[in-house]
Amino acid sequence: MKMNRAPVRYGLPYQGSKNKIADWLIGCLPSARVFYDIFAGGCSVSHKALLSGKYEKIFISDINDSVKLFSACLRGELPDGSEWISRNRFYQNKDIDPYIRLIWSFGNNQKHYLYSPELEGYKHLLHRMLFSEDREERRELFKNILREQSRLGIERGGDLQSYERHLSLEKVSQSLRGISPGSWDVNIRDYRQLTFESDGIIYCDIPYKGRRKYIDREFDYDEFYDWACRQTLPVFISEYSMPENRFICIGSQRRKSSFSASNNRLQETEKLYIPRGHIEMVRELEIRQYDRVFLQTRF
Ligand SMILES: C[S@@+](CC[C@H](N)C(=O)[O-])C[C@H]1O[C@@H](n2cnc3c(N)ncnc32)[C@H](O)[C@@H]1O
Repeated sequence: MKMNRAPVRYGLPYQGSKNKIADWLIGCLPSARVFYDIFAGGCSVSHKALLSGKYEKIFISDINDSVKLFSACLRGELPDGSEWISRNRFYQNKDIDPYIRLIWSFGNNQKHYLYSPELEGYKHLLHRMLFSEDREERRELFKNILREQSRLGIERGGDLQSYERHLSLEKVSQSLRGISPGSWDVNIRDYRQLTFESDGIIYCDIPYKGRRKYIDREFDYDEFYDWACRQTLPVFISEYSMPENRFICIGSQRRKSSFSASNNRLQETEKLYIPRGHIEMVRELEIRQYDRVFLQTRF
């Protein structure tokens, strides 16, 4: 399953995505037979894991059905992007269609329509011109677009975010071509319902404590801490801070804050934790990994 490909954006456009640090994260984690990404969200970490060749199987799961869209990327079954999603259509379908919810929401917040009521008509004209196969119609649309630009006072308004996002999704899908269907499994589940095979590691990108909720859902941190410490496979958790009597930080990475669009210098430190009781299990996996590399290079 080893793949060599040019770097791409990892995963779907998703709030809280680990796209920017997916290389670092997968570099920190030991190899094993199964990689469980159980708060997968936009699946950036699963995407990197699939391309890394470190795992035989990637189990991708989240309580939210956004993972279905990643599964469509894996199967090469994305919509072609030609359908215009109106404001009404968005509000009618966002809860049942992750493509509509993620590609057509403002700031990928999965709640509000991408375009303002003032700009919706103008963006629709751009979309129609992009997909029209009729030269005469394109000419008429172009004239209407120029008229609208002057009416709305738009100087350089050719951006069509919905289409840009669609293209970025197509690139994700292209980067996954050739991944064997047997090497991944996608599920919509609460993490508390899952069972695990032996010889795996569990990665948990939980909602950050004290930050925005995902689709208005509360997360019980104490229950999660108890669950993580109980597991018989090593558990790796992304968080900013965790109770130090029970968890230990095994790696950290500075990155630009995703919560401050205006201040580029605002940095935050992403950390990777394991339960203190899992130190031995992780050590054993690492020793096994070094042994394998040693054997491969010696013989
Ligand atoms: C920080 S996001 C994950 C982002 C993801 N790693 C990425 O790169 O796109 C946290 C995820 O936890 C999920 N979540 C919240 N409660 C959950 C639960 N009880 N079981 C499974 N997933 C849950 C949310 O739906 C959200 O997608």
